[in-house]
Amino acid sequence: MATRVKPYAESAASYIPERPTLEKVRTASKGCKACWLWTLGTQTVFGEGPPRADVMFVGEQPGDSEDKAGRPFVGPAGKLLDRALDEAGIDRETVYVTNAVKHFKWERTERSTRRIHKKPNDAEIRACRPWLDSEIALVRPRVIVTLGATASQALLGKQFRVTKDRGKPIASPLAEAIFATVHPSSVLRAPDPAARARAEKELIADLTKVARHLQAQARQPGQRGPRTTTTRTERRAPKTPRERAGSRELPMAARGRRGG
Ligand code: URA
Repeated sequence: MATRVKPYAESAASYIPERPTLEKVRTASKGCKACWLWTLGTQTVFGEGPPRADVMFVGEQPGDSEDKAGRPFVGPAGKLLDRALDEAGIDRETVYVTNAVKHFKWERTERSTRRIHKKPNDAEIRACRPWLDSEIALVRPRVIVTLGATASQALLGKQFRVTKDRGKPIASPLAEAIFATVHPSSVLRAPDPAARARAEKELIADLTKVARHLQAQARQPGQRGPRTTTTRTERRAPKTPRERAGSRELPMAARGRRGG
């Protein structure tokens, strides 16, 4: 009997380059065919932001605008995230933003000519996971903020409920803390202006807790690596020659905290 060959690798693990750096991984991600979503999306949408960002935001998957632009969170949800970050006192330029899934999954309904977002399934999230793991291992953020159920459950387990445990620092081997909050798209989908204003205020409140956590748990003297996340009230520390010269080549297993 003929062996049935699975059409996809099922995991992006085999695409991760040896001696990975963020740039090498980003380049490799462009050719990812680990699951079928590459046939739907225009391009891989890898994360972006300072390579030593203190905070990493993880969304679900790129949307229509991100798929076209090749950059995460540049569409309506991204604009709302920008505003919420600003209100919370977190400079968007200093955070790393990415997604659990790097290709846009969509469908076209009979009633619409638009590409309608479709939630990625567990197998697709699993297949894409090595890209996110690489980003976390290489950026080594102090705090990860998961936006919505997909990203939150990917990093905190299927039992995790954003509605129940949003806006709290959650212990994780991946970072000093993970904070979960709602996805900005859910704010945009609120049924009426009052509900939307409320949802936006709650999102800002969660992000304000992240900003406070970063300030309260400021790097101790002697810890290596400058902070790259500044709040509106902070001046950005100048880059040290050591940082400028610093190599980002890290073994994939390197998950120690930067200050450790
Ligand atoms: N929604 C996401 O989860 N990520 C994006 O990049 C855009 C919209």
